[in-house]
Amino acid sequence: MPVDLFSAARDCLKENNLEKKIQLSTATVKRCRQGFSLKKVTVESTHCVGRPCKPRLVPPKALPRRGFGTQQARLSLLHAIAHIEFNAINLAWDAIYRFQDMPEDYYWDYLQVAQEETGHFSLLRTHLNRASYDYGDFDAHDGLWTMAENTAEDVLHRMAIIPGVLEARGLDVTPAMIKKFADTGETEIVETLETIYREEIGHVRTGIFWFRYICSQRGLEAESTFIQLIKQYQLDEFRGGLNKAARIEAGFSQQQLDFLEAEFVGN
Ligand SMILES: [Fe+2]
Ligand SMILES: [Fe+2]
Repeated sequence: MPVDLFSAARDCLKENNLEKKIQLSTATVKRCRQGFSLKKVTVESTHCVGRPCKPRLVPPKALPRRGFGTQQARLSLLHAIAHIEFNAINLAWDAIYRFQDMPEDYYWDYLQVAQEETGHFSLLRTHLNRASYDYGDFDAHDGLWTMAENTAEDVLHRMAIIPGVLEARGLDVTPAMIKKFADTGETEIVETLETIYREEIGHVRTGIFWFRYICSQRGLEAESTFIQLIKQYQLDEFRGGLNKAARIEAGFSQQQLDFLEAEFVGN
C-alpha cells in the first residue's frame, strides 16, 4: 500500500517529541520514496505545529547577543542555527501538507527538503551534544514559524517568503560564519555548515522554481510579483550584503538581486 502523503506529512508536522519527530521524519521520507498517494486530508491551522516544550520561545530582543568570542557564545549560535533547522523540518512537512494541489514533482522536491532539513538539525544537535548541551538548552524566538503562519493561505506567498527570502538570507550569512568557525579551529562544525550551505542552495532553487511555476499558472509576471510580495510582507532590512554567486546559482534573476540590494541591504 502506498503511503498517504498528506496524512503522513501531517503526522510529522504535529509530532511534539523531538526523538520521535526525527525518527518519524526520516522513516516517512524513506517510505514515501517507495511511492505515495495524494489522497487529500483536511488542513488544520498552522497552530497544529509540533515542537518540544523546550526551547522556551522569547521575543528576539530578549535573546543574548551571540558571537564567537567564547565557547558559550558559539554554542548559543549553534543552538540558534539548530532552532532554524528544527523549524525547517516543520516547514518542509507543512509545505507538503498544507498545499495539496501542486504537481507531484513538488512533493518529491519537498520530501528531499524534509530529508535534508532533518539531517541538518541532527548534525547540529550532535555538536551541541558533544559539548554536553542539547536542543532546548538556550532560549529561541519564533520568527520563522510566524512567517509560516503569515504565508499559510497561499503557496505563492509561502514560496516567495520562506525559500525566496528567509532561506536565501541563510546563503548570505553562512560563508562568513563558516570562516569564523574555521578561525577557531572547529573543523567538524565547518564541515556541517558547508553541507548545510550546499544543500540550502538547492532549497532556495526549489522555492524559486515553484514560485515561477505558480506565477505562470496564474498568468502573473514572476519578477514584479516577487517584488510586490516582499513589499507586502514588510520584511526587515538586513546587513552584510547579498551572496550574489549563491543566489544566482539558486535561480535568482539579476532584476531580483538589484531590487533586494536597493530595498534591504543596510550599511
Ligand atoms: Fe536546513
Ligand atoms: Fe532549507
